[in-house]
Amino acid sequence: MTELAGKHIVLGLSGGVACYKSAELTRLLTKAGATVQVVMTEAAEQFITPVTMQALSGRPVYASQWDAREGNNMPHINLSRAADAILIAPCSADFMARLVQGRADELLSLMCLARPIERVPLLIAPAMNREMWAHPATQRNLAQLAQDGAQVLGVGCGDQACGEVGDGRMLEAEEIFEELAAFFAPKLLAGQRVLITAGPTFEAIDPVRGITNLSSGKMGFAIARAARAAGADVTLVAGPVHLATPRGVRRIDVRSAQNMFQAVEGQAQAATVFIATAAVADWRPANSAEHKIKKDGSGQVPTLAFVENPDILATVAQSDRARSGALYCVGFAAESEHLLAHASAKRARKGVPLLVGNIGPATFGQDDNALLLVDAQGHRELPRASKAELGRQLVLEIARRLRAMSAP
Ligand code: CTP
Repeated sequence: MTELAGKHIVLGLSGGVACYKSAELTRLLTKAGATVQVVMTEAAEQFITPVTMQALSGRPVYASQWDAREGNNMPHINLSRAADAILIAPCSADFMARLVQGRADELLSLMCLARPIERVPLLIAPAMNREMWAHPATQRNLAQLAQDGAQVLGVGCGDQACGEVGDGRMLEAEEIFEELAAFFAPKLLAGQRVLITAGPTFEAIDPVRGITNLSSGKMGFAIARAARAAGADVTLVAGPVHLATPRGVRRIDVRSAQNMFQAVEGQAQAATVFIATAAVADWRPANSAEHKIKKDGSGQVPTLAFVENPDILATVAQSDRARSGALYCVGFAAESEHLLAHASAKRARKGVPLLVGNIGPATFGQDDNALLLVDAQGHRELPRASKAELGRQLVLEIARRLRAMSAP
């Protein structure tokens, strides 16, 4: 279940090619358990039909303030009172100007003006040509909208429908979805600076070969997303993985355990929470060949010698900041059996207050997982669920422990 389950979202479409993304957004929202009420301007109907939006939302679309389907003939009042949030996506330059001016001569802007401002948040996802976006009038309107309490979600950069390239594209449906979910998440980690390692490491044998493992990075990325949604400032140190960076998260890409160690050491000074989800290679080849190791035809196989990698978590957990309580360290344990025994032993060995055990082969690459939390008080299971859900639950558990530590 996401933060969006049970939420009623009024999705307003103003005119723009990006309306096609709002169709996908509607699907994502309804799939997540939200109800979506679509309201469209006349211009939006030039880009996508109300039929499509009705089919995807499962509700008749509203487009006119004179819609007689409402008993009191006041759709602007009824629609806005029922909403947990109003999201305008796409929000055109013209519609932004209308919001700034408090115009009320068509249903969507009328409804935004009539919404109970303290109770019904307004989010906007702008979409326009790059020159329109950069224009001082638009930037002035944006600043005014933010000052009036609207949450401006920002824009993407890239190819535009007009053929130009630059800022002003509407965010992708998945990105808007992520922003909306984050908006509703309780800000349990506000003020915290969270450093997370994720994914495997790659230890080179020669320029074309290396040793790695089956970690996909999905658990660490899910925790990063959940921590950011909970209001934390998040830095994610990622091994070689093919995953999109969660919105609002600072990402540092690394390859080997030594690279990861360096990146973490550089960031740990500023962090207040360190979560080590990465499956770090324990050993690396003692000598990585400068050129590809060739078969010489004799049938002889090369002999590889290994040296141990630094233990990133154990080193950080022994730092002065961690020992003084300024940096809260959370370790993971990827095991294949005897989870509780191994996780408890590992917690003591690494010197961390909280260790999270999981069965590696059962979860590497999967979208779900089951976790076992081990701390000084005992252990607690987080039963099998999506990694997104487990990320949220883990953030809650960490926030609870941080609160307990700072309680007088
Ligand atoms: N870890 C680390 N640096 C390493 C090895 C592990 O930071 N060189 C971290 C992992 O990110 C994880 C925890 O230590 O949070 C435990 O990792 P795991 O691979 O389960 O255990 P190991 O320390 O490798 O111990 P073992 O091989 O005995 O299971």
